[in-house]
Amino acid sequence: MSLHLEARVSDPTAGGLENLLSEDRRFPPSAEFAAQANASADLYSWANADRPAFWGEQARELLTWSTPFEQTLDWSDAPVARWFADGRLNAAYNAVDRHVEAGRGDKVALHFEGEGGDTRTLTYADLQREVSRAANALTSLGVTTGDRVAVYLPMIPEAVVTMLACARIGAPHSVVFGGFSAEALHSRILDAEAKLVVTADGGFRRGAASALKPAVDEALAKGAPSVEHVLVVKRTGQPVEWTEGRDVWWSDVVDTASDEHTPVDVEAEHPLFILYTSGTTGKPKGIFHTTGGYLAQAAYTHLNVFDLKAETDVYWCTADVGWITGHTYVVYGPLVNGATQVIYEGTPDTPHRGRWWEIVQKYGVTILYTAPTAIRTCMKWGEEIPAQFDLSSLRVLGSVGEPINPEAWMWYRRVVGGDRAPIVDTWWQTETGAIMISPLPGVTETKPGSAQVPLPGIAADVVDDEAHSVPDGSGGYLVLTEPWPAMLRGIWGDRQRYVDTYWSRFRGLYFAGDGAKKDEDGDIWLLGRVDDVMNVSGHRLSTTEIESALVSHPWVAEAAVVGAADETTGQAVVAFVILRGDSEAGDLPAQDVQTTLRNHVAKEIGPIAKPRQVLVVAELPKTRSGKIMRRLLRDVAENRQVGDATTLADSSVMDLIAQGLSTPAAASQD
Ligand code: WTA
Repeated sequence: MSLHLEARVSDPTAGGLENLLSEDRRFPPSAEFAAQANASADLYSWANADRPAFWGEQARELLTWSTPFEQTLDWSDAPVARWFADGRLNAAYNAVDRHVEAGRGDKVALHFEGEGGDTRTLTYADLQREVSRAANALTSLGVTTGDRVAVYLPMIPEAVVTMLACARIGAPHSVVFGGFSAEALHSRILDAEAKLVVTADGGFRRGAASALKPAVDEALAKGAPSVEHVLVVKRTGQPVEWTEGRDVWWSDVVDTASDEHTPVDVEAEHPLFILYTSGTTGKPKGIFHTTGGYLAQAAYTHLNVFDLKAETDVYWCTADVGWITGHTYVVYGPLVNGATQVIYEGTPDTPHRGRWWEIVQKYGVTILYTAPTAIRTCMKWGEEIPAQFDLSSLRVLGSVGEPINPEAWMWYRRVVGGDRAPIVDTWWQTETGAIMISPLPGVTETKPGSAQVPLPGIAADVVDDEAHSVPDGSGGYLVLTEPWPAMLRGIWGDRQRYVDTYWSRFRGLYFAGDGAKKDEDGDIWLLGRVDDVMNVSGHRLSTTEIESALVSHPWVAEAAVVGAADETTGQAVVAFVILRGDSEAGDLPAQDVQTTLRNHVAKEIGPIAKPRQVLVVAELPKTRSGKIMRRLLRDVAENRQVGDATTLADSSVMDLIAQGLSTPAAASQD
């Protein structure tokens, strides 16, 4: 483990990070911003005085409970927390109905912008009717409280409506990102034993209709006995295959259903959703979150980190609902807080590279939350593009998903934020459910590239191999030292894996899997993953999962995958493969082998997992105990002098690899 950390810390990206640590640019909050900010510095002392009581206050203040809770934290079954466990509530009621009851039914909840420019506006009253209809339809399809529903949809209002309809009847949703393959969808449906799959004929992507339903058909053809129905939204109008009795159109069952529905009251600890994420093994982990604690922290962080003023702000988080950011900061956080938000179906460059800025201008977006990879892409396209649009409405800018390099941070601040809007670099994970480490706008003096401080109510530290807190100015592993309301309650159906993955590395501490440093002020700088998880464009991918996909191809005998530093995507997937001696691949041009294997990974997992390069090699570097030394492969993939190879079983292997790669065909990419 320490080896990995050193490997990252001494690599060029981390070398850049060493420089970051001498970063001396500082951006104190402006007096105007501070004067109107939701957050204030005394939140820290209040939370520190009694953390569970602080969270209890937030949960009472920000949520509506049908049965108020008396208990705050119950940690007796650690590491499985119970928060507000004797209280009852409904997530959809909190996100929708209570705003209508409070006379805010005419307020816009969602401004939907389709990729092709079609739009829809849903007020909170509209949303209440839509979600009620969908909840009635789900019930008519046999879904009841506790049943799981798989959701495989594009970024259209029906995705939000479906999630809330599930929450309304207490049926945990399991959203699967629309970019995942039939295979990935299948394993997630099986693991969660979903009773219903909600999908669409397709969505619009880069100017064309892209099909979704065929992947559902293919997944179910592999066998999924729990699935009774497939509910299909018509988005693109493209032809679909139809299984009578199983498949139903949204327009037939949802649009015709009653728009009256009473939300089902659930216990605070009732599961709200499962979301699969990549771990260090091939099998994705079904991270599950429950209702009360998750919603409390979602609402609290959304309010304070983004300084949300529900009456006047127009908020836009560019994440897809297929990821945790879309769950917490498109669906639950903003809606529980009664915000008006924008959701956009497409990519930032369709039909032109100013599309995002055009949307900001059109809706007068005031709070923007996006990922460093998107910022770097826009930097590459040039600042004259955003300069063509009026971005003066923006007042808070957020970043999430991966470390943001100071240059991207500065660009974001200057070009997008007009040197005026504070930036919040927010660190968190699918597992943490909500933001954990971030500046507070109006309070924190920000530093480009650092997520800085645990939020009030959150306790984090950086520790060494022996779990000792490192002094300021040193690096180690990021851990969370106290339970928090939105923490995962486990891995679906596998308590032991939950304990092993997060709670065994350091006794009594939650191991996040990220390397981190504390600077001289004690502020935290994230350094990237220390395990076999890659971060490509802010998306988590497992090296093992991609290796398994590669070796499932008949040509491949062995595979090793690394995340290599990439200017735009943060990391890129680079695969090293050994071909089987008897396979026909040996006779094919290297280019064809690469293309076939890259496409194979896209088919098995999804296009996001497609390796940037597939390098055919004769051997892989292994230790005497047979462990692949990915650190050395990363050196090769990043065109660096290969590091210390003395622990290799056969030290000539790296020379062989380097020689093989000097042939141009092997290193090319399409
Ligand atoms: C990384 C996304 C640095 C980190 C919300 C973490 C970050 C993983 C940041 C979780 C940040 C997320 N700075 N790194 N601000 N935010 N990460 O589960 O490695 O998709 O462990 O959740 O992303 O990714 P996940």
